[in-house]
Amino acid sequence: MWDTLKSLAGNVADRSMLDLFDDKSRAAFFSLSACGMLFDYSKTQIDHTILSALVDLAETKDVAARRDAMFAGAALNETEGRAVLHTALRAKSEAAVFVDGRDVMSGVHKTLDDMERVAEQVRASDFTDVVNIGIGGSDLGPAMATLALRPYHDGPRCHFVSNVDGADIADTLALLDAEKTLFIVASKTFTTIETMTNARTAKTWLDASGVSTEGRFIALSSNQSAAAEWGIPAERVLGFEDWVGGRYSVWGPIGLSLMIAIGADNFRAFLGGAQTMDQHFQTAPLAQNMPVLLALVGIWHHQGMGYGTRAVLPYDNRLSRLPAYLQQLEMESNGKRVAMDGTTLDIASGPVVWGEPGTNGQHAFYQLIHQGTAVIPCEFLIAAEGHESDLAHHHDLLVANCLAQSEALLRGRSLDEARAKVSDRFQGAELDRQACHRVFPGNRPSTTLMYPKLTPSALGAIIALYEHRVFVEGTILNINSYDQWGVELGKELATALGPMVSAQQPPDGKDGSTQQLLGYISENRS
Ligand code: F6P
Repeated sequence: MWDTLKSLAGNVADRSMLDLFDDKSRAAFFSLSACGMLFDYSKTQIDHTILSALVDLAETKDVAARRDAMFAGAALNETEGRAVLHTALRAKSEAAVFVDGRDVMSGVHKTLDDMERVAEQVRASDFTDVVNIGIGGSDLGPAMATLALRPYHDGPRCHFVSNVDGADIADTLALLDAEKTLFIVASKTFTTIETMTNARTAKTWLDASGVSTEGRFIALSSNQSAAAEWGIPAERVLGFEDWVGGRYSVWGPIGLSLMIAIGADNFRAFLGGAQTMDQHFQTAPLAQNMPVLLALVGIWHHQGMGYGTRAVLPYDNRLSRLPAYLQQLEMESNGKRVAMDGTTLDIASGPVVWGEPGTNGQHAFYQLIHQGTAVIPCEFLIAAEGHESDLAHHHDLLVANCLAQSEALLRGRSLDEARAKVSDRFQGAELDRQACHRVFPGNRPSTTLMYPKLTPSALGAIIALYEHRVFVEGTILNINSYDQWGVELGKELATALGPMVSAQQPPDGKDGSTQQLLGYISENRS
């Protein structure tokens, strides 16, 4: 199977993508509309033969059956023995979803009602600022979505503190009035060292400001007893179950800061957008299924063509945290070297995902994308219109730039064209030399996702699209996309290194490099 894909890739590696558009139906055929969005993957080497090979791959790997199993509450997270049911958090229907023989839907609806009650209380209170303290999935989802939905904010200001670097919380607290600040401690496990350290610092700050901590902390966690031990009583804890993975948790209590910022109705619209994508994912045939196609394009570029990274390039400034969000979603989910059964993968796992919003990236790293030696498939995202109707000309420029980039990647600029550009300034060998630097190889793949406007509902659909893409890629690679053992070793070693950094313990047993680095720290502390 992988051999078929690789041999198809070998056959078309040097083919002109631009020539593929001689087929006037290409753009329409290799694109898809769903949930009000358009996904265009025609600017790739994928043709009819390749598409059917990719769809065959999805069929062979039982994507549809595993998808149905996921929605039905099967324990797909096999290494942790857990269901994968973030989709239940946004399910509207009353249809039962069973986990271990128990219907979880009444709990889901109750939690959403509790969130609304808490959010409305906060919005109606004297708190002017809310600080979400969390990291990874307990930060990136709400931070990304809260920024994305800035035009819908009508509640207290929301801030996000994640890094254990004291600079993060210090810079945030410096802006705030202790009397008017509410802290949300967001941690599924309620043991994460960064979050617990920041939460303690918040407590100390309130104490030092002479403000009682009572009523100033809310916890979002699956570990109620740890929250209680920490001093947050059960009635101030919004809980969720272990079948909600951290990086898939923005739809429930971890999204509380977002709900506080935009209100319950907008939050429900956000869930609604995700739900329409869920429905599409569950019902559309694989070849017309947006998450499936997005995943297959990813597989084609990474496992087929061998491109090592993919750039996510939102032409939407408010999606500036989307690349970071997707880095966790995609790389923590599919950055694995063993298959579900513990054997070593026989194919590359997920790619490096990175990016920045356009047009900023154009003035930074696009040089490499256009003329570097590595081919980097680019995923552009753009809204048909912005929220700033009085600045529509800005949006026109934004769209023009987005489309120009995918066109430039496709078309490139030949040596003759480059020569013509500079022939008035140079002649002979110098003309050739100068022209070479101005050549764009082109024939570089990109996809474009278009949506009407970055509304709560559109954002919900976009995030759900990416979540399902990760699921499909993971299924095809036979990876468990829902554990993250790869983060454990560093955590354990950091705990052991703590006393060595503070010079309470000698660096016995450490390698020479680590000892040297510890030595530098201790010598250079005032
Ligand atoms: O370190 C990885 C991780 O476990 C992520 O998967 C998770 O989103 C993050 O840490 C935060 O975990 P918690 O919500 O338990 O604090």
